[in-house]
Amino acid sequence: MDKHLQSTLHEDRIFPPSDDFSARARIKSRKELDALRAKAEADHEGFWAGLARKELDWQTDFTQTLDESHAPHYQWFSDGKLNISYNCLDRHLAAHGDKTALIFEGEQGDTRHISYRELHREVCLFANGLKSLGVAAGDRVILYMPMTPEAVIAMQACARIGATHSVVFGGFSAESLKDRIENAGAKVVITADGGHRGGKVVALKAATDDALSRGCESLEKVVVLKRAGNAVTLQDDRDVWWHDLIEGQDETCEPLWVDAEHPLFLLYTSGSTGKPKGVQHASAGYLLNAITTMKWVFDIRHDDIFWCTADVGWITGHTYVAYGPLAVGATQIIYEGAPSVPDMGRFWKVCQDHKATIFYTAPTAIRALMKAGDDIPANYDLSSLRLLGSVGEPINPEAWMWYHRVIGGERCPIVDTWWQTETGAHMIAPIPGAVTTKPGSCTLPLPGIAIDIVDPDGQPISEPNQGGVLVIKKPWPSMIRTVWGDDQRYYDTYWGMFDGKYYVAGDNARRDEDGYYWIMGRIDDVLNISGHRLGTMEVESALVAHPQVAEAAVVGRPHAIKGESIFAFVVLKGERSADGIDEDLTRELRDWVAQQIGPIAKPDDIRYADNLPKTRSGKIMRRLLRTIAAGEEITQDTSTLENEAILQQLQGKT
Ligand code: PRX
Repeated sequence: MDKHLQSTLHEDRIFPPSDDFSARARIKSRKELDALRAKAEADHEGFWAGLARKELDWQTDFTQTLDESHAPHYQWFSDGKLNISYNCLDRHLAAHGDKTALIFEGEQGDTRHISYRELHREVCLFANGLKSLGVAAGDRVILYMPMTPEAVIAMQACARIGATHSVVFGGFSAESLKDRIENAGAKVVITADGGHRGGKVVALKAATDDALSRGCESLEKVVVLKRAGNAVTLQDDRDVWWHDLIEGQDETCEPLWVDAEHPLFLLYTSGSTGKPKGVQHASAGYLLNAITTMKWVFDIRHDDIFWCTADVGWITGHTYVAYGPLAVGATQIIYEGAPSVPDMGRFWKVCQDHKATIFYTAPTAIRALMKAGDDIPANYDLSSLRLLGSVGEPINPEAWMWYHRVIGGERCPIVDTWWQTETGAHMIAPIPGAVTTKPGSCTLPLPGIAIDIVDPDGQPISEPNQGGVLVIKKPWPSMIRTVWGDDQRYYDTYWGMFDGKYYVAGDNARRDEDGYYWIMGRIDDVLNISGHRLGTMEVESALVAHPQVAEAAVVGRPHAIKGESIFAFVVLKGERSADGIDEDLTRELRDWVAQQIGPIAKPDDIRYADNLPKTRSGKIMRRLLRTIAAGEEITQDTSTLENEAILQQLQGKT
C-alpha cells in the first residue's frame, strides 16, 4: 500500500490511530468498520432501520423505513412518531439528570454550568412561553441570538412543541434577517438586546427592529433575551422580555409527538443563483445521523467534555451543539465570543479551564491561531484533549500538521469531516480508532453513505486521482427534504444534473488508490469564506444595488487565513479613476455590502473597470477574473471574448 501512496500522492504522510486510542474506541479497527460498512451495503434500509430503533426513542414505531414514492423528496421512518426534544433531554433524566449538559463561558468571562435537569426545566418554561404567544406546531420561529445557552434552549423549545425554527446568524444584517423572516413566513423572532463578540456588543434587537420596519408582515411577536444590558426599545404590543415570558409558566411541558418527517428546522444557505435558500430538514432522520456521527466520528463517551466552536447560526452549530451532543447525553462547552478576545490564547484557555477532551473547529480558525505562533498554546495545559476535528473547507496539510503537533501533542487523531448544510451530518470522515488519516483528506465515506465521483455524463470514475463531481447515490436519513417553498429549486440544485439519479453536492473531488477522498472545491459559483458559504450572485446583487454601481462580478481569491477572500470587479455608472483604485468609494461599497448581507460578505478587494470580460453571448468569464484576482498570468484562451482589450484594464495595467 505504501508504495502506491508514495508514488502518486502529493501528501504522503500517514497517521494510523494509536493502539491506545483504538483499544478504547467505539469502533476499534478497520476490520470492524469495514464489517459495518458491508452490513449497510448489503441492506441499506435494514441498516438504517436497525439504528433508528436502537438510537431513537419512539412514541410510535415506524413500519416503513424509506418511502421513495415522492423522490427525490425521500421520506424516512415516515409513519413513526417521536419528539426531538424528548430524545435530547427527557430520556437522560432518570439516569443522568444531574450530569452537566452545558458549560457556558461568555466572552467577558462569566460562566454557567447547566445540568440536564435544569436544561429540561428551562426548555419547558420557554416552550410554554412560546405556546402562550400562540406558537403552534408547524409555525416558523426565527432565532437571531448570541451564542448563549438560551439559543439552544429556544431551539429545543421549538422542537418540543413542533414549531419549525430557523436560526439566522447574528453576524447577518437587518436586510438579510428581513429576507429570511419573509421567506419563512415566520410568526415570532427570538433575539437578545445584544451579544458579546470581538470585544463589542452586537446590537441584535436594534437590527431586528430595523428588519421589521422594512416589511415582515407575517411577524407577530418578538421575544428579547436580556444579555448584554445595552439600551433597547420594546414595542408594547409586539415585544416581550424572555424573563417576563417565562415568569409563572409551568415547569413541565409535555412533548408534542410529531411525525418523523415533521420539519424540525429551516436553515438558509447560499447557492449559485438568487437569494439564499431555506434548506428544510425533517426530524427523526436528522437526529439519527446526528447521533450516529457523534458516536462513530467523535467517538463520544460518557466522560467526554465536547467542544464544537461553531455558532448555532450554522449547520455545525445545529448538529454538533444544539442536537447531537444532547441526544447522546454528553457534556459540552459553549463559548459566546471570538477566539481573539482578550488574545489569541482564548480557545486554549477555554480548553484548559473546562478540560475539553474533544475539540472541533474550522480550518480558518486553525490557520489564524497558527499564525499567532506556537508560544501561545504552549502557555496552556491541553493534555485533556484526546480528539480533534475540522470542518467547513479543505484543511491544508500545513495547518493539519500544526493542529496535530501543537494542539494535539501528536497524540490526538484528527477527524476532517466533509458534509454540508444539506446533508445534515458528516458524510465522509475518518473513524478515529479505525482509519489511518492523511493530512488534507477527509478519508472515507461513513457506513450507509454511498459516495461516488462521476464524470459530466454521470459515469462513475474508477481510476484513482481523477477529479470529478462528488455525488451521493442513495438517500440517507438526515438529507435535505426540500428548499422551503421551492420544490423546483430543490430539484434543479441537487438532482437536475443527473436527472434525479444522484444527489449532487456541488463539490469536485478525487479519490486516491486507497479510496480516500480529497475535496477539490466547489463546481458552482459559491465562495467559501472562512468555512462559510456565500453565493457570488448575492454579493453582486448587493453591489449593483448601490446607486453608483452599474455592473459587478465577484470571484474568490486564495487567502492565507480565510481560505478564500472576495474580489469584486465593478463597473461604475459615472467616471472611474484612471488607475482603477478609489479608496473612498471602496470603503463605502464595503460598508454597503456589510449592511446588505453582513460583514462576512465584505469584499477584500475592489477593482474598477469600464467593462467586464464577456463572451459574445454576454456571459461573464469568471475563470479569467479568478486568474486576475489571484494575480496570475492569463494562459486561458481569450479568443471568445467580445472585448479582449478590457483584460489589460482589469489587471490594473491601464
Ligand atoms: O465545499 C464543501 C465545504 O463546505 C461546503 C458546505 O458548506 P456548508 O453547507 O456551509 O457547511 C459547512 C459545514 C458542514 C461543502 O460543499 N466543506 C465542508 N466540509 C469540508 C469541506 N470541504 C473540504 N473538506 C471538508 N471537511
